[in-house]
Amino acid sequence: MTLFRLDASIRAEGSASREIADIVEREWLAAHPGDAVQRRHIGVDVLPADAWAHAVSAGYVQAEDRTAAQAAAVELATTLTDELVDADAVLLAVPLYNWGVSQHIKVWFDLIMTDPRVREPEPLLQGKAVVLATVRGGGYAPGTPKHGWDHSTPYLRRMLGDLWGADLTVVERELTLADVNPAMEPLRPLAAQMHAEALDAALAVGKAFGLAPVPETSRA
Ligand SMILES: Cc1cc2nc3c(=O)[nH]c(=O)nc-3n(C[C@H](O)[C@H](O)[C@H](O)COP(=O)(O)O)c2cc1C
Repeated sequence: MTLFRLDASIRAEGSASREIADIVEREWLAAHPGDAVQRRHIGVDVLPADAWAHAVSAGYVQAEDRTAAQAAAVELATTLTDELVDADAVLLAVPLYNWGVSQHIKVWFDLIMTDPRVREPEPLLQGKAVVLATVRGGGYAPGTPKHGWDHSTPYLRRMLGDLWGADLTVVERELTLADVNPAMEPLRPLAAQMHAEALDAALAVGKAFGLAPVPETSRA
């Protein structure tokens, strides 16, 4: 069995999304001792920003006529797609940046969307257990000024769940900046509560994730 883990935080230390994903991964490994974890940290080892355009244009020429850049982009898209479809389960840790998804994760989605497998009748992740850990520095609850400004989580749900057919579970945490932003000082008790709740949720989701059946239709 293989777990594929994708991290999109631009930092490796002190990352709230990694903290949640670490718990989920730990619970997966507890249920599947000795399993392999295939990792990709696109926030740090970034994908080339121009690869997507090369992969798209490669689709309009014969394989033997592709430029070196087009061939490399197609190979990268194939590798990224292989990592997803070959895994028995998938774990993603994706923060909110500038009220949307970072270019790092967008190019990951865009490259996979150039792979011919996304056009097969069966969705790419049909029935596959996928956990998304997502974190936000601010607060977006109904009634707050920025309610509706998180344009990342709906996009991620749309792509992973609706388009690719994953059996998606989302663990969220807000107010991650409360401890470092003086203006958020009054929110610190609420932030601490949200932190604790997110870690509890990660534990419960991780346990269920470890028990998730591998779909019969898995392409792995
Ligand atoms: C460049 C940058 C832009 C950010 N933009 C937002 C934002 O639009 N909304 C928000 O709530 N938090 C924003 N944040 C805060 C992050 O979502 C928060 O720090 C989160 O915890 C980062 O994920 P990590 O802890 O896994 O690294 C931003 C952080 C950075 C560094």
